Amino acid sequence: MVRSILLFVLLPAFIYAQSTLPKDPQCVCTVNVSPANDCVRTCDSGVSATSVKNSEIIALQTQMQELQRELTTMTTGFGLPARMKQCSKRGMNDGKENGEIMACDFVKQRDDTVLHVAWNGDLRLIHTGSRGASCRRWFFTLNGSECSDPYTIDMQLHNNQPSMNIHRPSYVEGFCRGLSAGNVHVRWNVGDCVNQNPSYNPGDSYTGWISTVRIFVEEVNVKDATENIV
Ligand SMILES: *[C@@H]1O[C@H](CO)[C@@H](O)[C@H](O)[C@H]1NC(C)=O
Repeated sequence: MVRSILLFVLLPAFIYAQSTLPKDPQCVCTVNVSPANDCVRTCDSGVSATSVKNSEIIALQTQMQELQRELTTMTTGFGLPARMKQCSKRGMNDGKENGEIMACDFVKQRDDTVLHVAWNGDLRLIHTGSRGASCRRWFFTLNGSECSDPYTIDMQLHNNQPSMNIHRPSYVEGFCRGLSAGNVHVRWNVGDCVNQNPSYNPGDSYTGWISTVRIFVEEVNVKDATENIV
């Protein structure tokens, strides 16, 4: 009785269940075709049959690997391939000799990137006062401190001619390491020159006469930012 149930009920049911399962979807190499060693693979998923040459599969795999490599190169150290911000102002006309000139906040996405900053616009310094010359320094601060890895990002203007009022275009640029992820307060400032006292007067400085000034900020993948300190 048990044996006949096994034979006439369970076995046919098992065979029937097997036949309803999808056939092995793995491709089987069946026909050798030209070029030599290439072959047509037939795939039968139980619905339709397809055939693809080995060489086509290999070419696709190679393409995918290349794309993967490119994507990894683009995105390593980044959430996105590139992030840049520009803050600009027209007709700034800022006559101050000390303090903040311009602000540009930037949200750094990662700890392991460098921050590339640049400022451009025009500056002037007229010599005033009793000492032999005047000097002013324009410099970036990043979250309240100047860059120390590798160096400050700054410039100095020296003038010993009281009558000279030349507005010069200027461009200051560099990248800074060691800033953690988060909001970075990027500031362009003016103040004393290095070794200001007692040699120099502050003079009469001016930033951004009529024209446009701008700060650029960019987060750069460290492996795209190598540096030689000379
Ligand atoms: C910059 O300072 C702000 C606070 O003013 C802080 O929230 C932020 O995390 C700092 N950014 C970095 C990169 O340390």
